Amino acid sequence: MNRLHFGDCLTVMQDMPLASVDLIYLDPPFNSQRQYNSIYKDETGRPLPEQIDAFCDMWELNDETEEAIRHTPTIMERDHGIDKATADFWRLWMNALRDTNPRLLAYLSYMVQRLLQMKTILKPTGSIYLHCDPTVSHYVKVMMDAIFGYANFRNEIVWHYYNKFAAGRRVFGRNYDQILFYSRGKSYYFEPQRIPRDKPRRQLVRENVGGVLKNKRGPDGKVMYRTVTDKKMDAVWAIPALQHASRERLGYATQKPVKLLERIIKASCPPDGVVLDPFCGCATTLEAAQNLGRKWIGIDIAIHAVKRITRQRLVERLGLVEDEDFEITGIPQTAEGALDLWTRDKRQFQVWAVELAEGFVTKRQSGDGGIDGRLWYDVPGERELGSMVIEVKGGRTVNINVVRELRGVLEREERVQLAGLIVQHELRPRQRANFAREMGKAGEVEIGGVAYPRMQLLTVANLLDGKRFQTPHVMGKHQLQPAIPGISR
Ligand SMILES: C[S@@+](CC[C@H](N)C(=O)[O-])C[C@H]1O[C@@H](n2cnc3c(N)ncnc32)[C@H](O)[C@@H]1O
Repeated sequence: MNRLHFGDCLTVMQDMPLASVDLIYLDPPFNSQRQYNSIYKDETGRPLPEQIDAFCDMWELNDETEEAIRHTPTIMERDHGIDKATADFWRLWMNALRDTNPRLLAYLSYMVQRLLQMKTILKPTGSIYLHCDPTVSHYVKVMMDAIFGYANFRNEIVWHYYNKFAAGRRVFGRNYDQILFYSRGKSYYFEPQRIPRDKPRRQLVRENVGGVLKNKRGPDGKVMYRTVTDKKMDAVWAIPALQHASRERLGYATQKPVKLLERIIKASCPPDGVVLDPFCGCATTLEAAQNLGRKWIGIDIAIHAVKRITRQRLVERLGLVEDEDFEITGIPQTAEGALDLWTRDKRQFQVWAVELAEGFVTKRQSGDGGIDGRLWYDVPGERELGSMVIEVKGGRTVNINVVRELRGVLEREERVQLAGLIVQHELRPRQRANFAREMGKAGEVEIGGVAYPRMQLLTVANLLDGKRFQTPHVMGKHQLQPAIPGISR
């Protein structure tokens, strides 16, 4: 079945069967040192004042990356059959970058680990297309040569988005990305593509006579012509970038056009083949593969990309049925799964918990402390939405100070009426009593004639059991029923 995984593609790919994928397209972060934001606006029908990180494209050297960099040449040689000279070159190159461009080093190290894994799951007849831009393409190409082999480089495709122009005063306009196309081996699947010509053209008809190509002649002895209306596609692809008003657009900052992906898939994935996008974002590749009848696997590390945007695209736009046409894996369904996520990735655990509570993740600092999310709800008779701030605490120990700080946010922030705390584990009885007393100090608030406790607490197990914070009708999660205080939604 088609699959969508939530998680780091490195770990997900480590569990995939060897030589099982026909085509990999990846559009990873480009070392742009930017945070990409996507807006949740569509979910409420009203713009929300906050945004969520779509993902963070920022790279730093730390102990973990240093460790990975040290081991990579050995892994290249030992596990991936890369020759010693190349591994030595890699070692020297990485050392040189440590002083000159440590961020680039961190980025390349991150990418090389994942690309080595991609090679292992690609079929011998498979191909890989790596989408990048001129900021890193020259470095990435050297890396791809080392991993996939210089001889397996097939094309550098230039995606020319002629409708989007970023020009500085002293440079030419930068309006293209590069896509590096490598095959896994010498004999690989490839179906040449054709595009219409601007004007039909008369062309000599040629024929093979004893292994020699000759002009074909008609019964009258004259050379024959035919009219051609299309031509073989070259490696410069003029495809417009998505505009703000485009119907295809889903609000994901780095979304690519389906047409671009359809072209790649038609050329390099056999009709019954499998396409993998390990950085699938809002699922452009998955839509293209689905349109063309190929099987697909998508992976993304951003939970909201997987849970919302991608699911929405697959279900609402393509009419697919979850668990029949595709499955989503990696999203915790049990307390153990949640603990596992927390152990692996604290930030994603917070995002998962906020989303499960039907909140929107936030990165904005609120008052003195950062808050992890917000719930938005309708306040009867008011134009603006009301909100509950949400704080998530993973791990075994939760200090009572968390409650005090959250109460501080509640007191300081205008338009915040409620505060919710999510904790990973059940509190011990004494601790629970202390928390309840401290939370009780915030009192109650009346909204639309109903009294709500201003501070509330839920455990991960409560959330997984379907319990939710007591609030007025929460916006944006497609509930038909308003929340009834104390009753699970
Ligand atoms: C440039 S975007 C891809 C956009 C995509 N091509 C589209 O059309 O929507 C890169 C994506 O990679 C994801 N990502 C970053 N690091 C990842 C990782 N280690 N594993 C899986 N996904 C990752 C980000 O969450 C982001 O959605």
